[in-house]
Amino acid sequence: MPAYEELLERWDGEAAIVRRDRAADAWIFICVHSTRRGPAGGGTRMKVYASAADGLQDAMRLSAAMTRKLAVAELPLGGGKGVIAVSDIPAGQGRRALLHRYGELIESLGGTYRTSSDMNTGEEDMDVIGERTRYVFGRSPAAGGAGNPADPTALGVFHGIRASLSEAFGSDDLRGRTVLVQGAGGVGSQLAVYAGGKGAFVRIADVDAERARAVAARVGGDVVPADRILEAEADVYAPCAIGGVLTPDTASQLRCRIVAGSANNQLAEPEAADILRARGILYAPDYVINAGGAIALVGLEQLGWSEAEVEAALARIGVTLQAVYRRSEELGVSTAAAADALADERLSAPAPPRVL
Ligand code: PHE
Repeated sequence: MPAYEELLERWDGEAAIVRRDRAADAWIFICVHSTRRGPAGGGTRMKVYASAADGLQDAMRLSAAMTRKLAVAELPLGGGKGVIAVSDIPAGQGRRALLHRYGELIESLGGTYRTSSDMNTGEEDMDVIGERTRYVFGRSPAAGGAGNPADPTALGVFHGIRASLSEAFGSDDLRGRTVLVQGAGGVGSQLAVYAGGKGAFVRIADVDAERARAVAARVGGDVVPADRILEAEADVYAPCAIGGVLTPDTASQLRCRIVAGSANNQLAEPEAADILRARGILYAPDYVINAGGAIALVGLEQLGWSEAEVEAALARIGVTLQAVYRRSEELGVSTAAAADALADERLSAPAPPRVL
C-alpha cells in the first residue's frame, strides 16, 4: 500500500480531512473531491480495512465517483465521501460516541461536506450523526429525514435495467428475462421485487444464503450460490453488493448480456469495461444507474421536491443511460468512458446556482 503522501499526490480531489480517533481505535477520513457544483455530498462507509491507508484510498476513489454521480444526475452538489476505518464494527454506546465525534467533525467543516448512509451505516446512524450536525441526509422520518434510500435506489436501477433491455434487445419487457441479483440487502431485495413483479425470473445470490432464500421465495425465483455468479446464465447481471466485481478476468467469463446494478465502483480496473464491450455485454455505468438514493434524498430533503418529482427524476436515469449508450457507440468507446465524458462535460459547464 502506498504511503499517504503518494496517495494524496496522485489524487485529483480538493481536500482530505483526517482524524485519528483513539477512543474507538478508528481512523476517520473525509474526502472532499469537488465542490465545483455545490457542497460535497456522499455517504459514510464504516469498514475494517487491512490498513488505514486502504481506508483513505477507498474514500478518495469513492469521492471521485460521487462527483461524477451527482454531476450526471444534475444535482447541485459536488462529490465527497466519509470513511470510518475501524478495527471492529462497533455497536451500542461505543458506536454512538464515535458517530457523535464524527458528526462534530462534519459540523466543523461548515457544510463543505454533507453525509448520508453507505456500507455498514444506516438511518439510525444518520439520526445519531444528526444530533451533532445539520449536514446529514437520510435521517429517519421520525427525526425529520426522508429515511433509508434503498427503495429509490432500487427503483432507479430498475429504470436503468429497462433502458438497458431496450438497448440490447429492442424491448424493455421483463417477461421471459432472467435477472441475476447479487446481494439480498436493502437494494438487491427491492430490485428483485420490482423485476419479479414485472415478470422477470429472478436469480439471487448472497453470502448469507438464508437471506437469498428468503428473497427468492418472495419473488418466486431461485438461489445462486455466492461463488457461482460467473457461471450463472442471465440476461441481466445486477451487482448490488460489493464493489470491484468487474475485473478483466470476470469480464471475460460472465454469461450475461447486460451488467446493471447498484454497487459502487464495480470496475476493479478500467480495462474490464473494454472487455465487456468487446464481448457485446452492455455495462450500465455504476454511478449513472445507482444515483436514485442521492436523487431522492437531495430532492426531498433539500430541493423541496414532491414524490411525483422524485419519481420523474428516477425515471430520467433510464433516459440518461440511453444517452450514455448512444455516446459510447458514436465515440467507439466503452460505456464507462462515455459516462466519464458526460460527467466531464457537466463538470466543465457553468455550475448550477448555489441552493445549498
Ligand atoms: N449515499 C448515497 C450515494 O452514495 C446517497 C446520497 C449521496 C445521498 C449524496 C445524499 C447525497 O449515492
